Amino acid sequence: MKEVQKIAILTSGGDAPGMNAAIRAVVRSSIYYKKEVYAIYGGYAGLIEGKIKKFHVRSVSKILGKGGTVLKSSRSEEFRTYEGRQKAYNHLKKLGIDALVVVGGDGSFAGAHQFHKDFGVKVIGIPGTIDNDLPNTDFTIGYDTATNTVTECIDKLRDTANSHNRLFFVEVMGRDSGYIALRACIATGAIAVMLPEEKMEIDELIQVLRIGYQNKKTSSVVVVAEGNPNGGAYEVAQKVKERYKEYDTKYTVLGHLQRGGAPSCFDRILASQMGVAAVEALLDGKNDVMVGIINNKIKFTPLVDSVGIHNPIDEELLRISKILSI
Ligand code: F6P
Repeated sequence: MKEVQKIAILTSGGDAPGMNAAIRAVVRSSIYYKKEVYAIYGGYAGLIEGKIKKFHVRSVSKILGKGGTVLKSSRSEEFRTYEGRQKAYNHLKKLGIDALVVVGGDGSFAGAHQFHKDFGVKVIGIPGTIDNDLPNTDFTIGYDTATNTVTECIDKLRDTANSHNRLFFVEVMGRDSGYIALRACIATGAIAVMLPEEKMEIDELIQVLRIGYQNKKTSSVVVVAEGNPNGGAYEVAQKVKERYKEYDTKYTVLGHLQRGGAPSCFDRILASQMGVAAVEALLDGKNDVMVGIINNKIKFTPLVDSVGIHNPIDEELLRISKILSI
C-alpha cells in the first residue's frame, strides 16, 4: 500500500471551540512525520473552489486558544452531488494530496465517506461539534466549552431570576440531541430539563414546578433543548404561563453565543490528542474511520458507524438531575 505523503485538513459544519487546536495538531504532527500538509479554507465548499494553501509549522502559531475555526466552515449542498465532489477531487489530484482529515459532525463524515468511495481519497474524521451527538467517542470537540458557556450564562440569569422570584426558560442548542441541555441542567441546578430524547408533557412540568414552589423555591430555571418536541423556550413558557400563574415567567434563547469563545483546557487537549491520532492513523494505513476517545483511550471506528445514529442520552445523568432538582 502506498504511504500517505500529502495530507489536507478542513473544518466542516457548525464551528466548535477547539477546532483550531485540532487544525494545529494535524498540521504539526504531519510536519513532525515529514509529510506535506495543506489547509482547505471554507470546508467542502472551499475545496470545490480550490481554496487550498500549503501550511508550514508556523502557519498554526497562536491559534490553539482561539475560538471558531481559522479555516472557516460551511455546509455545502454542492458537495452532496457527484459533480461537486468531482470538482473537489480534481483540486486534490492536481496537488497530489492523497489524504483528507475532516473535522466536523456526522453530515461532514457522510460526505467524507462518500468522497472516499467515489475517488479513493483516504479520509479520517475528527468529531468536532458542540452537540456531543456522535457515537463512538465519549466527547466531541467543543462540547465542554459550550456547556461551560451555557453554565456561565444560566448562572447570570439565576442572579436576576432570584432577585425577582422569576421562572426562566432557557433554550440551548444541540439540534436533536439533549446532551448540552442535560449537562447544563445539572451544572446550574435547574428544576427541570426538556429533552428531545424524553418528552416531558407540559402538565408534568407544571407538577414539578408546583412541587418546587411548595418546597419554597423562590425562583426556578428550566433548561429547554432546541429539539424539545413540545417547542422551544418561548413556546414552553407560553404554555406554562397560561396554566400556572405562580411565577413571573421569562424566556431566553442562548443561540450562537454557545458556539463562541476560547476553548476550555479539556477541549484543547481532546483536540490535540485527536489531531495527532488522525495523522498517525493515516500513516498506519487506516482509512475511512473516525477518531474517538472512549474511557481515555483512542479508538477508531468506521466513519459510517457515526453517521445518522443518535447518541443515546446519558440515563444516569438524567436520573441524577431528577434526584437533585427537588
Ligand atoms: O451542530 C451545531 C449547531 O450549533 C446545533 O446545535 C444547531 O442546531 C446548529 O448547529 C445551528 O446551525 P447554524 O449555525 O447553521 O444555524
